Amino acid sequence: MKVSVIGAGTMGAGIAQIAATNGHEVCLYDSFDGAIESAENKLKKILNRLVEKERITQKENETILGNINFTKDINKLKGSGLVIEAIIENLEIKQAVFAEIESLVSENCIIASNTSSLSLASIASACKKAERVVGIHFFNPAPLMPLVEIIPAVQTTEATLNAAKSIIDSWGKVTVIAKDTPGFIVNRVARPFYGEAIRIYEEGVADFATIDWAMREIGGFRMGPFELMDYIGNDINYIVTETVFSSFYFDSRYKPSFTQKRMIEAGYLGKKSGRGYYDYSADMPKANEDRGLGKTILWRVLAMIINEAADALFLKIASREDIDLAMTKGVNYPKGLLAWADEIGIKNVLKQLEGLQAEYAEDRYRPSPLLKRMARENKTFY
Ligand SMILES: NC(=O)c1ccc[n+]([C@@H]2O[C@H](COP(=O)([O-])OP(=O)(O)OC[C@H]3O[C@@H](n4cnc5c(N)ncnc54)[C@H](O)[C@@H]3O)[C@@H](O)[C@H]2O)c1
Repeated sequence: MKVSVIGAGTMGAGIAQIAATNGHEVCLYDSFDGAIESAENKLKKILNRLVEKERITQKENETILGNINFTKDINKLKGSGLVIEAIIENLEIKQAVFAEIESLVSENCIIASNTSSLSLASIASACKKAERVVGIHFFNPAPLMPLVEIIPAVQTTEATLNAAKSIIDSWGKVTVIAKDTPGFIVNRVARPFYGEAIRIYEEGVADFATIDWAMREIGGFRMGPFELMDYIGNDINYIVTETVFSSFYFDSRYKPSFTQKRMIEAGYLGKKSGRGYYDYSADMPKANEDRGLGKTILWRVLAMIINEAADALFLKIASREDIDLAMTKGVNYPKGLLAWADEIGIKNVLKQLEGLQAEYAEDRYRPSPLLKRMARENKTFY
């Protein structure tokens, strides 16, 4: 089956690499001067490095590159069985591109979007045969991150959803199915990991290094929230939070923070600009390794992300298994949050949240009705 990828940027080039590695004839299209050349050069470098590390052979390198047609001619999409769009995150532009794609491909071609924040229903509405449109959301870097969220729009048929899922499964990815709601699973459930950590800092409970240390050393997270925000880029991370916040009709649970906004305004974008929450030209600050304080920090953030995961299950955003898989495979959490809640005890999680809600009288701390119900009925997630 021929696979076409529209947009040869960070995500598009990575998705083309995956499809070509899995033996598909791939058409990688971009409309901007230089984008295709740059994607081709970057991919050649990546594949050469994989050969040096003996992860692929020189022959495989040549086969993968030979499978990809790098093009500025949109007509080359013809004959595709799957088209994945990964252009700029702008609804009007995506809608125009979807209408154009549909005019070039056959009736049976699946047309997917890699959008992180737009509604699939609105993108699909640009197509005459909207039932063949679906969200296929990869994580960055696409060739390395195992998780892919598959998002049916209200228009998407079961057959399209199943076909999309089985293609991505056959590429060795871990797929989860998510409702067409802001942030899908990962970008929704992860919000308090950043937001609550920033709030703890703003209240003066601890500094960045101490919060990161607590989440890493006591919580077992691969990276603390501040080092992770610096790694992702404060600009990117902030935009996701702001988009989720406004898409949820300004639910205070997702409120962005001034602390992060000021970082962006100052140009402290994170690792890529040499400075974010940390200054990468200087020695890293030392954490206050007080385990009592560390546990206070961890339980507060953990209760908030568990609450988000429970609420996603309560609102049928995804299944219990898919919510847990999404967080372990999409953002490397050490455990699935619902399984973790069982381990800690639902009543203990609820007590923590009710304590925060009583202390602050803020809606952001409201416990999910599911946790209350489960605590009352002595239930566990698994
Ligand atoms: N970067 C991430 O971490 C990430 C993760 C998951 C999903 N996404 C989503 O993937 C999509 C692409 O993101 P990215 O980070 O790869 O962006 P990017 O800016 O790196 O690449 C976008 C590419 O699309 C091209 N393009 C723009 N308009 C076009 C058009 N009309 N026709 C053809 N090509 C066009 C640009 O030339 C550019 O090469 C967005 O929808 C984004 O939300 C991004």
